[in-house]
Parts: sequence; structure tokens; C-alpha cells
Amino acid sequence: MYVFDAYGTLLDVDAAAREAAAEPGMEALKDHWLSIAKGWRERQLRYSWLCSMMRRYDDFWELTSRALDATLEEHGLASEGKVRDRLLSLYGELSPYEEVPGLLADLKASGHKLAVLSNASPNMLETATKAAGIYQYFDALLSVDALKYYKPTPAVYGLVTDHFGCKPSEVSFFSSNNWDISGAGAFGFKTIWVNRSGAAWDRLPGFPDKIVNSITEGANG
Ligand code: LAC
Repeated sequence: MYVFDAYGTLLDVDAAAREAAAEPGMEALKDHWLSIAKGWRERQLRYSWLCSMMRRYDDFWELTSRALDATLEEHGLASEGKVRDRLLSLYGELSPYEEVPGLLADLKASGHKLAVLSNASPNMLETATKAAGIYQYFDALLSVDALKYYKPTPAVYGLVTDHFGCKPSEVSFFSSNNWDISGAGAFGFKTIWVNRSGAAWDRLPGFPDKIVNSITEGANG
């Protein structure tokens, strides 16, 4: 079976800032949208790891909102309420990467079981996959919210094996996040690192079973 991380793997995490910057009234974003997108994502993830270390759980939408506030402040845009609201609204409905809908349709048609395993809360996952037009392909949308710990806590990966009654070695796990691949590999999943940007592998435990440029290459190789 195939299991996918959501944000950054199926859904384009830069899309909210990129699309907002092209809209009328959003001139404040024109020169900064990429730096805002990167800072927002980096903080969102850092907050998730630190919350887990502090044994505190605030859901992923809450962390995403707070990460945006800090990032806008860093860019001198703390008082731009309209920009903040528009970015958050677009983040709720991110575009999928180009190859994603077609590939999921093909995998589903071939009889594969498909699931998402994400930090995002269940509401966020349902809204996002419906907006991206990919909700119907999944047998399960699994959220860390069931455990209230973020990835890469080992128990999180067990949500997949518990739900499907399968062994870790039966799961092919796709993620663009190298730390997520490290955690999933330690749990025993077969790992496919979707390295669209050609990043260096972080020197974390383990190594991906496959490194690919797109999820299509990962599923077909
Ligand atoms: C997720 C985060 C890692 O979807 O983007 O789980």
C-alpha cells in the first residue's frame, strides 16, 4: 500500500503565498512572497517539533496560524490583517503538485490501497484534499491528532499499521520531508523521498530506499 505525507508532498506549501501575491490589493507580498512562504513553513514545522518535546499539543492549524503571524512580523507586515487572512484562507485550500491527481487516480484504478498520514488535523485534511480534488482516492486520512504528538514520533507511524492491520514493511511511504523519511524508515516503512528541489539529505538516522523528483517516478520506478 501507498501512504503519503500531505503538506509539501501532495500539496504545494508555497502556493498560498505565490497565489496571494498575484492578487489585487496584495502588493505588500510582491517582493517577499517566497521568503514568507519559506519562513512560514520552517516555523510551522519547528513549532510542531518543539511542542512535541514540551509534551504540549496545539493542533496544526493553530501552529500554522501562529507561524504565519511571526513570519509576517519578521517581514514588517504584522499590521496587514487582510494579507494575513488571505494567506490563511489560501493555505486551507492549497493546490496539489501537478502530477498528484493523475497519479492517485491511476494507483486507485490499479487496486492499490492509498492513505495520507499527516500532522494536519482531521478537518484540515478533509478540507484540503477535497479542495485539491483528491479526497476520493484515499482509503484513510490519518492524522497525528489521534495521538496528539507530531511526526517524527515513532508511534505516529503506527497509526498506519494499526488502521490497516498490516506490517510496516508492506507500506511504501512518500514524503518530501527528509526528517519524516528518517522517522518512517526507523519504523520499518519502505521510504521514498520526494526531493523536488534537489536538497541535500540531512544527516539523520537511516537513508531513503528511493530518492525521486516526483511521486510519479516513485510509484513507477
Ligand atoms: C504533514 C507535514 C509534515 O503533512 O507537512 O504531515
